[in-house]
Amino acid sequence: MPEADRVGADERFKPEVPATVDGFFLKGSNNLDWGVKNRLSSVFDPRSGRTVMLAFDHGYFQGPTSGLERVDLDIVPLCPYTDALMLTRGMLRSCIPPTYRGGIVIRASGGPSILREDLSDEEIAISIDEAVRLNVSAMAVQVFVGGEHETRSIHNMTRLVDLGNRYGIATLGVTAVGKELVRDARYMRLATRICAELGAAFVKTYYVAEGFETVTAACPVPIVMAGGKKLPELDALRLAYNAVQEGAAGVDMGRNIFQSECPRAMIQAVRAVVHDDTRPEAAHELYLGLKEGIEKSAA
Ligand code: R5P
Repeated sequence: MPEADRVGADERFKPEVPATVDGFFLKGSNNLDWGVKNRLSSVFDPRSGRTVMLAFDHGYFQGPTSGLERVDLDIVPLCPYTDALMLTRGMLRSCIPPTYRGGIVIRASGGPSILREDLSDEEIAISIDEAVRLNVSAMAVQVFVGGEHETRSIHNMTRLVDLGNRYGIATLGVTAVGKELVRDARYMRLATRICAELGAAFVKTYYVAEGFETVTAACPVPIVMAGGKKLPELDALRLAYNAVQEGAAGVDMGRNIFQSECPRAMIQAVRAVVHDDTRPEAAHELYLGLKEGIEKSAA
């Protein structure tokens, strides 16, 4: 029998209060569906609008590169300090505890190894069923604008965008820079804009010293900064600081964290720069203090 309406409870409908119409915190993402927004919220922290992603997918073409010899021992302890992980499905299944609460950005393209000259010869390397089964937040695909297999890499991305949109999974376009390609703002504007125009929900690209703010301004969806080769800690913190101050929605760093002298201290310093706008010099002090504490407690 249906429950009788309580007499005199009409005021509980609050007809005079308009329904809330919320915007979504990430640029260019307001018209996405609920599922993909929910997944993007597990990659980007809604409080700062930014992310610290830890990239350790290098093994998909490089094997056990320096710092990634033992992901279980050296990378898993860093997970609590990350907003999201960028990794392969092999490492996800074999090493990452399923209790991990951050975003999973899965490496979704691959093919040639470091032994080949042309790294742009990639195919899609995961099925959408597998991405759903692994509950990933986003699929990362390399886009080689100007590379030998430019068209195929762009089609890899657009196919993943179509498949991802069917299930509410975001696609991350990763602008790959070949040896022969100039790494300047003009190129980065071109490559990131192509990724966004063709449907990437967010784009990963390298920082450029001149005009990076024009790259982030011209890209209608969030940009995360790629780390690149290992730098001294203070320089890497400067890079991250400049990128977020010039419009990046965070960083996706690998070697500058896991090849650091003290990765656990470094990732916390990167977090301070990205989420709290801590200046690089202060973040470096934080790094040195944390490192000292970690070393003492290990002694
Ligand atoms: C980059 O495009 C690949 O996904 C790399 O394996 C990784 O993300 C690079 O990270 P990093 O340059 O910060 O070591």
